[in-house]
Amino acid sequence: MAFRWKNNLTHADVTPEPLWLNRRQIMAGLAGSAAIGAIGGAAFGQDALEPNSYEDITSYNNFYEFGTGKGDPAQNAHTLITEGWEIVVDGMVENPGTYSVAQLTDGLTEEERIYRFRCVEAWSMVVPWNGFELKDILDKAGVQDGAKYVAFETANRPDQMPGLRRPVLNWPYREGLRLDEAMHPLTMMATGIYGKPMPNQNGAPIRLVVPWKYGFKSIKSIVRITLTDEEPFTSWNDANAREYGFYSNVNPNKDHPRWSQASERVIGGGLFAKRIPTLMFNGYEDQVASLYDGMDLNTFF
Ligand code: MTE
Repeated sequence: MAFRWKNNLTHADVTPEPLWLNRRQIMAGLAGSAAIGAIGGAAFGQDALEPNSYEDITSYNNFYEFGTGKGDPAQNAHTLITEGWEIVVDGMVENPGTYSVAQLTDGLTEEERIYRFRCVEAWSMVVPWNGFELKDILDKAGVQDGAKYVAFETANRPDQMPGLRRPVLNWPYREGLRLDEAMHPLTMMATGIYGKPMPNQNGAPIRLVVPWKYGFKSIKSIVRITLTDEEPFTSWNDANAREYGFYSNVNPNKDHPRWSQASERVIGGGLFAKRIPTLMFNGYEDQVASLYDGMDLNTFF
């Protein structure tokens, strides 16, 4: 089966191999999704970026609604009730409404993709996500002419999310994408990890994943998707506009005001944890650089 686009993530010390594989390709070529780990290990070689363990991915998290420590979400997020989850789709769409996750994704093809995930704090992981292209969901909603951005909002439930009692951010957590970024085939709405339902600490039941941007763009536990013609409010830009821009594209040449963005620590390496150079657009430059043609990425960071 032909690849719809290719991943050419490379590092000097990394075997250049596809870092994501979608479920259909895996099913076509191999026995089933259980083989993913094996492919990862064999294809990437010893020094290459292998998917992090389920344990790493679900125990080292950022989800400030459950506390600001990396271990807090795994400890606290069980209080979030995800049964009966509903998502409001509104703004400049043909089919506004309140949908269950099943309704929103009905008829769409779930895929499994292994994406590199790079946090603004200079650590990274490789995560095998399950989910859907955001584009497919937006197409179902029917984006109206004139819409230019997509705004996302996380649940705001102080009784279930203890971190909301502290004004760390202007709650609810909000993020946004330009419409062309949202429609890009790499942008996905993830509903699981390693073929299992999304753990609460990772943003159950449905969260955004934008692999060429810093991790904070990948908003968790989404309850609202709004199509708009104005650049949306985003929580981190609101908290500190000098440190967090609207675009938040991974860019090793643009330092965070308080630290370098040029390299990253690979989570899960234990004693042998490496720092590796960060790649432009997190390694997805060939696929996404054209979205920003003519833009000064130091101004629009
Ligand atoms: N979404 C919400 N609602 N609240 C958050 O605090 N943290 C962001 C992002 N999405 C966050 C969020 C940040 S800073 C990162 S790095 C990623 O989630 C972490 O995702 P992970 O825990 O699945 O690795």
